[in-house]
Amino acid sequence: MSLSDKKKGVTIIAAAAENNALGKDNKLIWHLSEDLKRFKKLTYGHAIIMGRKTFESMPMALPKRRNIIITRNKFYLAKGAEVCNSIEEALSIVKDDLQPFIIGGGEIYRQSMELVDRIELTRIHEEFNADTFFPNIPETKWKLISENRFLNSSTANLSYSYLTYIRKS
Ligand SMILES: NC(=O)c1ccc[n+]([C@@H]2O[C@H](COP(=O)([O-])OP(=O)(O)OC[C@H]3O[C@@H](n4cnc5c(N)ncnc54)[C@H](OP(=O)(O)O)[C@@H]3O)[C@@H](O)[C@H]2O)c1
Repeated sequence: MSLSDKKKGVTIIAAAAENNALGKDNKLIWHLSEDLKRFKKLTYGHAIIMGRKTFESMPMALPKRRNIIITRNKFYLAKGAEVCNSIEEALSIVKDDLQPFIIGGGEIYRQSMELVDRIELTRIHEEFNADTFFPNIPETKWKLISENRFLNSSTANLSYSYLTYIRKS
C-alpha cells in the first residue's frame, strides 16, 4: 500500500545511542528535553502503543494521546490506558489512526520492526552502558529519507540526529 502524506502509517519512535542503548534499570539513560518536546509534538493526538515495562517506567499515562499497553497478563489494569494482550491486537484497535506510534521499549520494538511503515529515530552520538537495546535497522529493508544533526544540545551537552526511515517497497 502506498501511504499518502497524511497517512504515514504505523511508526516506531525511539531514541537510541550509537550502540543502540535505549534504557537501563527500566529508566531512560539521558535527559534530552529537545527530544522530549519533539516526541510530544509528533505523538500528540495519536495512539501510542507500549510494552508494560515502559508504561510502568512513566509516572502516568501520557495526556492527549490514546495510551495502549501490551502485556501477557489478562487481568492487567492501567489507569488512563487501554490494555491489549498482543502487538497485533494493539495495531488492530488503532487502525483508524493515520499515524499510530509504537513508543517502546526494547522488547516491543524488536517484535514490531516487521510490522511498521516508518521509524522516527533520535540517534544520540554517544555510547552508553544499558540493559535494553534498539534493534538494528537493516539497509536492505529501510530507506533513510531525512537526517538532521544537532551539536551539543542546550540541556544535556549531547550531539544527536533526527533520522526518519521508511520501509523499502
Ligand atoms: N530510549 C527510548 O526511546 C525508549 C523508549 C521506551 C522505553 N525505553 C526503555 O526501555 C526499557 C523498557 O523496555 P523493555 O524491553 O524492558 O520492556 P517493554 O518492551 O517496555 O515491555 C516488555 C513487556 O511487554 C509485554 N510484552 C512483550 N511482548 C509481548 C507480546 N508479544 N505479547 C504480549 N505482551 C508482550 C510483556 O509484559 P508482561 O511482562 O506484563 O506480560 C513484557 O514484559 C526501559 O529502560 C525504558 O526506559 C526507552
